[in-house]
Amino acid sequence: MNSRTVTLTIDGRSITAPAGATIWEAARSAGIDIPTLCHDPKLEPVAVCRVCVVDVENARTLPAACIRQVEEGMAVRTDTDRVRRARRTLVELLESGQPHADERRKPAEQDELARLGVQLQSDPSRFAATRSTPPVQPDLSSPVIAVDLNACILCDRCIRACDDVQVNDVIGRSGKGCSTRIAFDNGLPLGESSCVSCGECVAACPTGALTDKRLVDAAANGSDA
Ligand code: SF4
Ligand code: FES
Repeated sequence: MNSRTVTLTIDGRSITAPAGATIWEAARSAGIDIPTLCHDPKLEPVAVCRVCVVDVENARTLPAACIRQVEEGMAVRTDTDRVRRARRTLVELLESGQPHADERRKPAEQDELARLGVQLQSDPSRFAATRSTPPVQPDLSSPVIAVDLNACILCDRCIRACDDVQVNDVIGRSGKGCSTRIAFDNGLPLGESSCVSCGECVAACPTGALTDKRLVDAAANGSDA
């Protein structure tokens, strides 16, 4: 077991963390909140959304706190103007591609992206013209899980939840560039795939891309599922 520790400062506070810990883990252990979107502590970090960026003294770019490991003497700032601007712009870009509010399958208060937008006072209309892919029809072929790829931000949380946590290996990525999508058994409708409806992907999804059909429909009808 590696018992070595490193000491760094985060927002001016001296913090000792295990060697190999990430900046996000060290900050969290000290009660300092760094927002995340693609990261879930249950899953291996992949650092694709960059919402967790922080300022590290003498670093040329803003590293992602969910994957960058702590170093001895590192000086980290989590809430500078530069950091806030970067996070807000990233969230605005992601929000600008989301379905219209009345077409979303997840209430805003349960939608991590929408909550981050509120927290960062985002203005996604700045990027409203940048959507590059036409909308796709929701996939309602599964009796349990609804799929709305228009709300997918390609955070890969469902893929890691399905493949690494449940080891079901149903979900992956297909296509490339702006045609990249998550796919079930490489391109089947969810209801025709080998999905066992465990719900791990629904629990992992930070947007309304994967939702529990019965809960969402019951909420829309004002009844219990
Ligand atoms: S479906 Fe949800 S969890 Fe999966 S990549 Fe898209 S946004 Fe992330
Ligand atoms: S939460 Fe760190 S890059 Fe997405």
